[in-house]
Amino acid sequence: MERVYLKTKIFYGENSLERLASICEKRIWIICDKFLIDNGSIRRVLEVIDNSNEVKLFNGVLPDTPLTVIGKGAAILTQFKPEVIIAFGGGSAIDTAKGILYFGREMKIAGNVRLIAIPTTSGTGSEVTAATVAVDHETKQKHIFFDDSIYPDEAILDAKLTLTLPPDITANTGMDVMTHALEAYVAKGSSVYTDAMAEKAVELIMKSLLKCYRCGDDLEARGEMLLASSLAGIAFSIAGLGMSHSIAHQVGGTFHIAHGLANAILLNEVILFNGQDEKVFTKYAKMAYQTGMVERNVDPKLAVAVLITFIRSLKKLMNMPVSLSECGVTQADFDKYVQYVSQNALNDGCTPMNPRQITAQDVETLLKKIY
Ligand SMILES: NC(=O)c1ccc[n+]([C@@H]2O[C@H](COP(=O)([O-])OP(=O)(O)OC[C@H]3O[C@@H](n4cnc5c(N)ncnc54)[C@H](O)[C@@H]3O)[C@@H](O)[C@H]2O)c1
Ligand SMILES: [Fe+2]
Repeated sequence: MERVYLKTKIFYGENSLERLASICEKRIWIICDKFLIDNGSIRRVLEVIDNSNEVKLFNGVLPDTPLTVIGKGAAILTQFKPEVIIAFGGGSAIDTAKGILYFGREMKIAGNVRLIAIPTTSGTGSEVTAATVAVDHETKQKHIFFDDSIYPDEAILDAKLTLTLPPDITANTGMDVMTHALEAYVAKGSSVYTDAMAEKAVELIMKSLLKCYRCGDDLEARGEMLLASSLAGIAFSIAGLGMSHSIAHQVGGTFHIAHGLANAILLNEVILFNGQDEKVFTKYAKMAYQTGMVERNVDPKLAVAVLITFIRSLKKLMNMPVSLSECGVTQADFDKYVQYVSQNALNDGCTPMNPRQITAQDVETLLKKIY
């Protein structure tokens, strides 16, 4: 028997932020990062919230969701006892809210709290996933945690909120979506449901990511990337991820490389590694056929080569660094941490769903290739 669990109600399209106007007489806690307060984005949210609500703001979100921030948030949750939590921002803000909520539920103080996620990046898909990621700065390890109890109750996808994303973050987060779609497509938990979503996500990326990078105020393209992000999010939340994410988490935690960028650097090497399995290779070729990258009568080897070339070209056109050294990792630091990162990647929560068995040595070899 197979299982597909979908929980989050999704509101998308023009004026979807208006959904918030339906909340009345509640204690609302908004979790976001300081940048979105400073650039005025938060006003868009505050403007639609009814005056009958009591609203409190938490601006302590930091990139990559440190465990310490979740701890601070959990203490505030105990005092304020919100009825609704609005997570507003990129994956870091949404994951912070999910982490806090998880602890709140464990402590039996957040049983009925409604979580509404409003992504401002496209993105992690965290607004529709059962996953949260947090970094332990002491050990430099990133931890991913899946639990059905942290699925947001609602996700609001309002593309206008993503118009302010600068090109580099557009590129990084867009390649995170690409990695979610491709990892979910070949993951051990993939199914007809998740394949359909992953294929559509890649199709939308092909159509719109470069447009978003080159012309940030293209609302239609921004909307399509937000849809791609949520589709890929649902796909991986059900199907699982794989070794690109296992390694990206640890590379991010140790060398402080943005999550999407780490995935972008890894993705093609992971396709080559996992593609050594015949079934997985066939699946990558299928992605190229289904999305129209190549005609269906093209040889599978050529189809996979086109997929890899597409990814390489996209990264080049978006001026993304292609190696860890280009991201500023020194040879000394790389040598110092390579084994530690490899072992942690092997123990990462995404590794079990990778379609091929991997060893720490495989990860180390791959890391040396991308250095
Ligand atoms: N839970 C999940 O399912 C899941 C999936 C993938 C990744 N993640 C995690 O999410 C985190 C990364 O999230 P992210 O890539 O969205 O980045 P992020 O949330 O860290 O944000 C990156 C930067 O973009 C800024 N920003 C956000 N929205 C903006 C906007 N509209 N305009 C201008 N600037 C804006 C932020 O202030 C921040 O400086 C990582 O910790 C990663 O591991 C979680
Ligand atoms: Fe990701």
